[in-house]
Amino acid sequence: MIIEVGQVAVVTGAAQGLGRALAAGLIDRGVSVVLADIATERLQTTAEAFTARGARVLPVITDVSDAAAVNTLASRTVEYFGRVDMVVNNAGIGGGGGPLWQSDPQDWQRVLGVNLLGVVHGIQAFVPHLVRTGAGHVVNIASIAGLAVMPFGSSYCASKHAVVAISETLRRELEMLELPIGVTVACPGYVRTPLVEGLATLVEADDDAWTEHLPAELSKEQREQVRATLKRGIATVMEPEVAAERILAAVEADQLYALTHGDFDDRIRHRAEGILAALDGQGRSGDHVETTDDK
Ligand SMILES: NC(=O)c1ccc[n+]([C@@H]2O[C@H](COP(=O)([O-])OP(=O)(O)OC[C@H]3O[C@@H](n4cnc5c(N)ncnc54)[C@H](O)[C@@H]3O)[C@@H](O)[C@H]2O)c1
Repeated sequence: MIIEVGQVAVVTGAAQGLGRALAAGLIDRGVSVVLADIATERLQTTAEAFTARGARVLPVITDVSDAAAVNTLASRTVEYFGRVDMVVNNAGIGGGGGPLWQSDPQDWQRVLGVNLLGVVHGIQAFVPHLVRTGAGHVVNIASIAGLAVMPFGSSYCASKHAVVAISETLRRELEMLELPIGVTVACPGYVRTPLVEGLATLVEADDDAWTEHLPAELSKEQREQVRATLKRGIATVMEPEVAAERILAAVEADQLYALTHGDFDDRIRHRAEGILAALDGQGRSGDHVETTDDK
C-alpha cells in the first residue's frame, strides 16, 4: 500500500515503544493516527506531544483484549475521521518464565488475551471497513519469537507464532476473495523500548534477580549461558524509529513478512531446515502411490 497524506491509521499500544514510533512514522507521512492504549496518562502525554507537532491524532483508551472495546475503537475512528486505511495491531505484553510444564495458566490467559486475541479483535473490527472501501492494509506486530522458539518463554512464543499464522491465513483469505487489502506481519528482534530496557538492566546486574523466572534446576553454568545468550541478543537492540521505518517500508512494498533484524536468521534457518529435513526423510505423502509412470 502506498502510504500518503490524508490517510487514517489506527495504532494499538501507541503510548510508548514501537507503537509510538510507528505512529510517529505515519504522522511524518501526513497520516492522521488514532492512538489506542490501555495506559491512560501515558496515552494522553503521547497524544499531546504529537498534537504539539501539528499532527492530527485521536487518543482512545482501549484494552485490546476486550472485543467490545476494539469495536468501539473502530466506530470512533470512522465517526471522527470519516475513514480508516490501516490498522496496526501492535499492543503486546511479555510473559512466560519457567519450563512449559510449570507455566502459570493465568499467564497464558493474559498473554494470549492481549498478544493473540488483541490482534484477532483488531482484524474483526477493522477489516470489514477496509473491505467496504476496497483498500487498506493490516499490520500485525509479532516477533522473532513468532518464527523461532524461546526456551522459558512458551506463552509469549506461542502467542507470536499464532500472530504469524493468522497473518498468513488472512493474507490467503483476502487473496482468494480477490480483496485488494494488504497484510504485513512484523517479526522484530530486540527493540529499545521499556519492555527490553527492563530486561537489559536485570541481565547486566551483578545479582541473580534476573534468574527468578528460570527453573531452579538449572546449574550455575547453564544460567550463565542463558545470561550470555540474552546479553548477545540485547547487544543487537535496534532503535524503535529504525524498526518502525523498516516495517513501514515493508508495508509500502506489500511484503507479507517484515524481518527488521538480520541477527537471528540462524535460528529461523535452523527451524526451517529441521522441517525440510523431516520432509525429505519421510518423502511426500503421495510417494507410495503407484503412478502411470511406474508401469
Ligand atoms: N521491544 C522488543 O524488543 C520487541 C521485539 C519483538 C516484538 N515486540 C512486540 O512489539 C510490540 C510493542 O512492544 P514494545 O516493546 O513497544 O512494548 P512496550 O511495553 O514498550 O509498549 C507496549 C504498549 O502496549 C500497551 N498495552 C499493553 N497491554 C495493552 C492492552 N491490553 N491494550 C492496549 N494497549 C496495551 C502498553 O500500555 C504500552 O504502551 C509488542 O507486540 C511486542 O511483543 C517487541
